[in-house]
Amino acid sequence: MTTTIDGPLTAREALDQLEPLWRALHLHHLEVATYRPLLDDAGESWVRRRALYVRLLDDGGALFTARNENGQALGYAFTQTTPGADDTFDAPNGVIELVSLIVLPDARSEGIGTQLLDAVRNFARRESIDMLRVAVMLGNDRARAFYERSGFTAAEAVLYLKT
Ligand SMILES: CC(C)(COP(=O)(O)OP(=O)(O)OC[C@H]1O[C@@H](n2cnc3c(N)ncnc32)[C@H](O)[C@@H]1OP(=O)(O)O)[C@@H](O)C(=O)NCCC(=O)NCCS
Repeated sequence: MTTTIDGPLTAREALDQLEPLWRALHLHHLEVATYRPLLDDAGESWVRRRALYVRLLDDGGALFTARNENGQALGYAFTQTTPGADDTFDAPNGVIELVSLIVLPDARSEGIGTQLLDAVRNFARRESIDMLRVAVMLGNDRARAFYERSGFTAAEAVLYLKT
């Protein structure tokens, strides 16, 4: 089956097709993440994530989708560009954060994640952005292996403290 990659998309309406994909990612995190507590309610998780995407679309955010021949969204990547020289990393033209990357469970291991990542990478190169960044939950070992196989290197550890 042919997969079509679209993006960068910046219209809010493009977010409407993402709920089942985000829910699949959230359920995946509930299954594999070693840190607790996480938000239990996948529906509420989408409400909050959609609101974040809306804010980001006004602030350097962009969506890339992977669709099958019937137009069904099989996966997506959401990015946020921070232009300008970074103060810590050697990225004189800025950094693009891969805020989300998700492929539906039945469509994984067919190269769609790699196609989405390639689209983001080509976008970064076109924008002269030097560096991509992604955060991976501890326990999400297969996603981490996917990123490392794609060339990412771990550079930071993010720690959480309940107050
Ligand atoms: C990580 C992810 C986006 C990769 O997409 P994909 O379409 O499966 O990627 P590709 O087919 O291009 O490459 C898959 C490879 O990555 C690895 N991989 C990562 N996650 C995997 C998963 N859940 N199932 C199987 N393989 C996985 C495997 O090594 C696999 O190798 P294979 O193709 O030889 O089986 C996708 O597996 C996914 O959506 N996972 C759950 C959500 C997630 O963790 N997203 C990342 C959040 S930071």
